[in-house]
Amino acid sequence: MDDLIAIYYFRPKDGVTADFAAQAISEEQTTGTWTHLSTVNDHTAYVHAYDGEVMDIASMGDGGYITRIRYPYEIFEPGNIPQYLSVIAGNLFGLGKLEAVRLLDIDLPDAFRAVHTGPKFGVEGVRKIVGTETSRRPHVGTIIKPKVGLNPKDTAAVAYEAAVGGVDLIKDDETLTNQQFCPLMDRLCAVMDVLDKVEQETGHKVLYALNITNGGDKIVEIGEKAVKAGANMLMVDVLTAGFSAVQALAADPAITVPIHVHRTMHGALTRNLHHGIAMRPIAKLVRLCGGDQLHTGTVSGKMGGSAAEILGDNTILTESWGPIAPVFPVASGGLHPGKVHAELATLGTEIILQAGGGIHGHPDGTRAGAMAMRQAVDAFLSGVSAEEYAKTHAELAKALVSWGTT
Ligand code: 3PG
Repeated sequence: MDDLIAIYYFRPKDGVTADFAAQAISEEQTTGTWTHLSTVNDHTAYVHAYDGEVMDIASMGDGGYITRIRYPYEIFEPGNIPQYLSVIAGNLFGLGKLEAVRLLDIDLPDAFRAVHTGPKFGVEGVRKIVGTETSRRPHVGTIIKPKVGLNPKDTAAVAYEAAVGGVDLIKDDETLTNQQFCPLMDRLCAVMDVLDKVEQETGHKVLYALNITNGGDKIVEIGEKAVKAGANMLMVDVLTAGFSAVQALAADPAITVPIHVHRTMHGALTRNLHHGIAMRPIAKLVRLCGGDQLHTGTVSGKMGGSAAEILGDNTILTESWGPIAPVFPVASGGLHPGKVHAELATLGTEIILQAGGGIHGHPDGTRAGAMAMRQAVDAFLSGVSAEEYAKTHAELAKALVSWGTT
């Protein structure tokens, strides 16, 4: 079957039955509206082929229900992700008969996957660039901090220290794009110069995710310019720029580098467990769009999130989808060396662990912070606790004294 099934949690308003509420969602998003339509009649009865179907409704015992709604394949425009969202996550959020409604998941049939090519690089492509396809060790990344304010020269100086310390990925923060204090192309050239130097000195190739988030009229042009100038990774804030920004970049043959996808603003959609959009459908759409790496949260960091949900999202990114390559999950937000064990023990090692403050806040500076993160990963991989490993690794020891292990 090629139809798409969307799963919602919903709470009807007082006096509204669950059946009525679920039917209202199904009709609003397909062929109906709040009243009978004279335009749907014997002559136009063919329209009913495009009706939605409430497949089932289950009470959750908290005043809420879970329903599965089947949307006919034909009401989607293949390849048009904004249009998919207008169907599965459109007007329904404002329906007055509902107290709350949350899109929990979407069951994407093969027909949808067939029209999307997905990531150009994915987990294997990124590992190949960095040289970890055999070791399979987790990648360690850093976000240059402060988030904004450093000029290109000082950004590059921090990047150099992080790269020498052993990170695999350096990225801009989500609010840094092309401001006057740090022009994008100047920053790119300055950072890539030092990363080339590190590669010559150490043989280690480090990726730099340049944040090219911008309007739809500009992002592809900026991406192409950045790649021509030597960028080895691009970054997009997918929810502020839109899924089609990632899709347009991934589809462009001139974009020959992986795309790092940040999910800033996701909390507005994902945080309320009864209303909004869960991370699961977002992760599925990013994979269809062609994101190579996606932030899905941490189990011990500063942003909250349930371990079961993150694990499920990461599985969606990495499980086999036939020809659509797996996406590298990124755990980021409030991590430091003392939290590495909890992240890897819960989320596994097919992951990128990123630390901003947890590297640049190290008492001995960025290089020592990067070393401490790598040492914490090595400790986990050797089956030793961070405290034990710290007895012979001074950088890790200092990090644990500063931030502890929780
Ligand atoms: C991110 O992009 O995930 C955050 O900027 C992480 O920053 P932090 O490691 O300092 O919390």
